[in-house]
Amino acid sequence: MTHFFHRRQGELWCEDVPLAALARAWGTPSYVYSDATLRRHFHVLDEAIGPRPRLIAFSVKANSNLSVLATLAQCGAGADVVSGGELARALAAGIPAGRIVFSGVGKTRAELVAGLVAGIFQFNVESAPELEALAACAAATGLRASVAIRVNPDIGAGGHAKISTGGAEVKFGVPMAEAPALVRRVIEHQSLDFQGLAVHIGSQIGDLAPMERAFGKVFALARALGAEGIGVPRIDLGGGLAIPYDEGETHAQPAAYGTMVARAAGDFPGLLIFEPGRLIAGNSGILLSEVIYFKRGESRNFLVLDAGMNDLMRPALYDAFHAIEPVGRPRGEPVPVDVVGPICETSDLFGENRLLPPLEAGDLVALFSAGAYGASMGSEYNSRPLAAEILVRGAEHAVVRRRPVLDEMLAREPLAQWLAR
Ligand code: LLP
Repeated sequence: MTHFFHRRQGELWCEDVPLAALARAWGTPSYVYSDATLRRHFHVLDEAIGPRPRLIAFSVKANSNLSVLATLAQCGAGADVVSGGELARALAAGIPAGRIVFSGVGKTRAELVAGLVAGIFQFNVESAPELEALAACAAATGLRASVAIRVNPDIGAGGHAKISTGGAEVKFGVPMAEAPALVRRVIEHQSLDFQGLAVHIGSQIGDLAPMERAFGKVFALARALGAEGIGVPRIDLGGGLAIPYDEGETHAQPAAYGTMVARAAGDFPGLLIFEPGRLIAGNSGILLSEVIYFKRGESRNFLVLDAGMNDLMRPALYDAFHAIEPVGRPRGEPVPVDVVGPICETSDLFGENRLLPPLEAGDLVALFSAGAYGASMGSEYNSRPLAAEILVRGAEHAVVRRRPVLDEMLAREPLAQWLAR
């Protein structure tokens, strides 16, 4: 539990707002974010990096809510975007184009043009064909693109195989050995401006050693390019730092990360770019849900929630652990329960054998560490409306994404004309 989600007289609050009041006013399932926690996490990372020139580009995929992005924009954050949609969100939230980095292996021509027209800070190019497509788009629009080459250091890391992005067998980046040729190709193009190198090896990384090895390779490549007379003004070190999901879980802290970055960067004089997602947003949000039934099974008992795997995919996708606690004052001794959602899939399971105080229909629970890759990965599976999102700031709160009504969802699907006749 973070400082900004805390208990008062046994009841769970977000900052100065009781979660039960939010559930009464806006229903469940709802994501609740803490403004103070978002800002604090941003500043902790910012301070850890020390006095170097830096750009902290929040990874929009972690939480793409406009108010969350606008909050981080106020802190001075840029954005790491991976689609035209995320680019539009970052711009709409007030993040200046000059602080936006565009990553991803599959940028379409339309997305490249959108980035060029917006005048973004940098394209992180991940392949030779993407490089040629960007050069062609830039030439056609008469605009110049700032380019970094994302390398694949052949070092993967992360909390789960499905979120490791740095091994030679994954689709991300270009092999180290091919990078210099690609850099020279950037320089040959009039419409491209070579600016740097980028790397990102995975997510939920708790051990800094693989990151440091990967960074070492990137800074070595920058020095080698320098020796050839090719200046490398920027290095983008990606995101990936782990956060605690369970009580007592410990991972490398931002301060240690800052020290490691300083060691790896040495006397590199240029700009360092960071793309944190989870570190900033993960523990800034919870998913608030109501118990629909307490169901007794033959060998287990189930707490059936009104939140499902469509709202929070991480347990189903990555066997991820999210702490679950009652919102109200705990009544009685904890008992083991399986906490499940209402969806017709066995993987719609938030926690097996969790020790929770006795809970019944109508009680509220909070699923912690849900601020990153929670709402942003939500879907309408089982035709369930997307969860609402609420941002709390002190004693104030705002519904920053309303729950769609079913009519809106149905209205997106016109019947084929031969069926409507
Ligand atoms: N930069 C790049 C190029 C990325 O691919 C990612 C995440 C980030 C930055 C931000 O990484 P972070 O600081 O959040 O670790 N859905 C998964 C995580 C997927 C991460 C994908 N890339 C999950 O829920 O655990």
